[in-house]
Amino acid sequence: KTPIIFDTDPGIDDAAAISILLTNPAFDVKLMTSVAGNVTVDKTTTNILKLAHFFNRQDIKVARGAEKPLVKKFEDASHIHGESGMPGYDFGEVQTTILDLSAVDAMVEVLQSSPEKVTVVAVGAFTNIANLITQHPEVISKIERLVVMGGSLSGGNMTSVAEFNVFTDPDAAKIVFNSGLDITMIGLDVTLKALISGDTVAKLQGANETGRMLTAMMAFYGDNEETGKPMHDVNTLYYLLHPESYQLVDYWVDVVTDGPAIGGTVADIRHAYHDKHNVHVALGVDRPAFEQWFIAAIGQISDE
Ligand code: BDR
Ligand code: CA
Repeated sequence: KTPIIFDTDPGIDDAAAISILLTNPAFDVKLMTSVAGNVTVDKTTTNILKLAHFFNRQDIKVARGAEKPLVKKFEDASHIHGESGMPGYDFGEVQTTILDLSAVDAMVEVLQSSPEKVTVVAVGAFTNIANLITQHPEVISKIERLVVMGGSLSGGNMTSVAEFNVFTDPDAAKIVFNSGLDITMIGLDVTLKALISGDTVAKLQGANETGRMLTAMMAFYGDNEETGKPMHDVNTLYYLLHPESYQLVDYWVDVVTDGPAIGGTVADIRHAYHDKHNVHVALGVDRPAFEQWFIAAIGQISDE
């Protein structure tokens, strides 16, 4: 089992990732933390609790994270993910609670008390992770690796160069990429290839209650490519389970923090800066394998 801290801003594709995270026995979820991103942190926190309740995982620790980026003004993506962040499904009354600790303090506690190193997966803006790195350098050695959904070497979804999670808090992303942690970047280079087709949505809808919950939200999802819907954040988990489905290249990657390219992730592809690398960048993915796995992963979730 992989011990995991999952930092997230649900968000429809976050909800799909969390559905797998909370039901796949390969993951030992030590903590989930919220961050402002797709919608406000109040809403992303509530949405994590809704999903923990839906999957009967009241045992999962949840902590509330940053309400705004380090420097940049906060702008949500409710035009993509709906006002609530998880529209179209009624979760009923939710009986789950959050820890009385901030996301950063909860991460410190989990990392310090864990006998083994913990994998951190971040699929929202990187504000909490940057705060952890700058405020608690003493626990960094307990992080096994950091797998992020964010960034792009092939154009953005917010500006011509910037991907949403990095664009939301570029200063945090810069701290994270320059932290020395073992970082794997699952960016738009692969997530816009790993699309969920209309046929797959139809199969999921008939599969079980989780499929109905996710496809109800997907009907409101504003992120649509010609041949399907990108389930960006799900790729981080598929990568952890099936790294052989991705092609990765090591680069030095840095983040632009102002000007027209703000939020852009730049890789030193020609080694013009130096010979070092700080990020494993995913550039290729086996789409059919991803889609098959996604259907199976959701389909095997019991309605009990
Ligand atoms: C990322 O931005 C968010 O809207 C999604 O949840 C995903 O994490 C894609 O750019
Ligand atoms: Ca997200």
